[in-house]
Amino acid sequence: MTSKLNVVPFVSVDHMMKLVLSVGVERFLTELSAYVEEDFRRWESFDKVARVAAHSPDGVIELMPTSDGTAYGFKYVNGHPKNTRDGRQTVTAFGVLADVANGYPMLLTEMTLLTALRTAATSAVAAKHLARGDARTMAIIGNGAQAEFQALAMKALLGIDHLRLYDIDRWASEKCARNLDGFGFDVITCSGTEEAVDGTDVITTVTAAKQRAAILTDNLVGAGVHINAVGGDCPGKTELHADILRRAAIFVEYPPQTRIEGEIQQLAPDHLVTELWRVIAGEAEGRSSRQQITLFDSVGFATEDFSALRYVRDKIAGTPFFDELDLLADPDEPRDLFGMLLRAAA
Ligand SMILES: NC(=O)c1ccc[n+]([C@@H]2O[C@H](COP(=O)([O-])OP(=O)(O)OC[C@H]3O[C@@H](n4cnc5c(N)ncnc54)[C@H](O)[C@@H]3O)[C@@H](O)[C@H]2O)c1
Repeated sequence: MTSKLNVVPFVSVDHMMKLVLSVGVERFLTELSAYVEEDFRRWESFDKVARVAAHSPDGVIELMPTSDGTAYGFKYVNGHPKNTRDGRQTVTAFGVLADVANGYPMLLTEMTLLTALRTAATSAVAAKHLARGDARTMAIIGNGAQAEFQALAMKALLGIDHLRLYDIDRWASEKCARNLDGFGFDVITCSGTEEAVDGTDVITTVTAAKQRAAILTDNLVGAGVHINAVGGDCPGKTELHADILRRAAIFVEYPPQTRIEGEIQQLAPDHLVTELWRVIAGEAEGRSSRQQITLFDSVGFATEDFSALRYVRDKIAGTPFFDELDLLADPDEPRDLFGMLLRAAA
């Protein structure tokens, strides 16, 4: 990669798509999952803070920073469920990876696609550790932008190859089924949540609505199911009925953030939860029996974006899938910033 001090590698949406397609979506998800898992395993080496959220009536804008002491990463991300009505994404993002030693950015990248990929990779890492080993069938409730990524990551890591789709908007389910054609799934499009979750091993909820919803009620969740709850990720924005939470073994990313944003905001602040990293590191038990209901209360944490930034930086080396962005002022003499400005007029 370049050594010009003014230049930062920049991955546009176009380049990200080309990178993902050149690697192959499932291989990309598998490799990215390995980075996510590796960073969960060295959890204690990260500076951690609950993300900084700016709420407004229709959405949220969040900054998500973390560092492992060598590199520093942050993501800017929004969540605006009404956006799709006027052609915008519910979630859009970009992020930076920087060198802690000198503070210089090493990568600027789109993260809308990358967020969908890293969220799916994280879901699959969690499910690999928490779902029953013979899980092959998954219901996906909410078939919007994130849905296909979730399906493909679960296939890549767990071998899930039977999908049951449900969305209040039938078009979304049909779009999802069409997009997944050719990826080796057996897909059934359902007309309700009850039909979708019937007999499934894994239930992924990934809907978008800024409200306390009950996408899943307790009577719909059978013994032994793993729930991958992705869409409830803001104060006042949840997907599961609280009775499910009382029956399930709950696994979370970073408790100080999840207690504010996750499904567990519906529970007492001291309700027992297990940090996912402890299960991955072998310090805590995951699923304790075939009958147990396990729940990954996903909200998305900064280390997952850090893993994704790290992976993309490694992956673009030697490829044409980035631009050299003139982002940093680089005067001939570092203290002559103003002189550089004057010379530009000459
Ligand atoms: N946990 C994380 O790390 C993480 C990461 C990214 C996105 N998210 C969240 O995931 C959710 C989905 O994101 P997206 O980009 O796919 O949004 P999207 O708007 O593209 O899709 C959401 C879909 O949910 C459907 N839906 C809404 N209410 C429903 C209901 N009651 N039953 C069934 N379907 C319903 C909508 O019709 C839509 O098709 C959002 O809430 C987002 O904030 C979480």
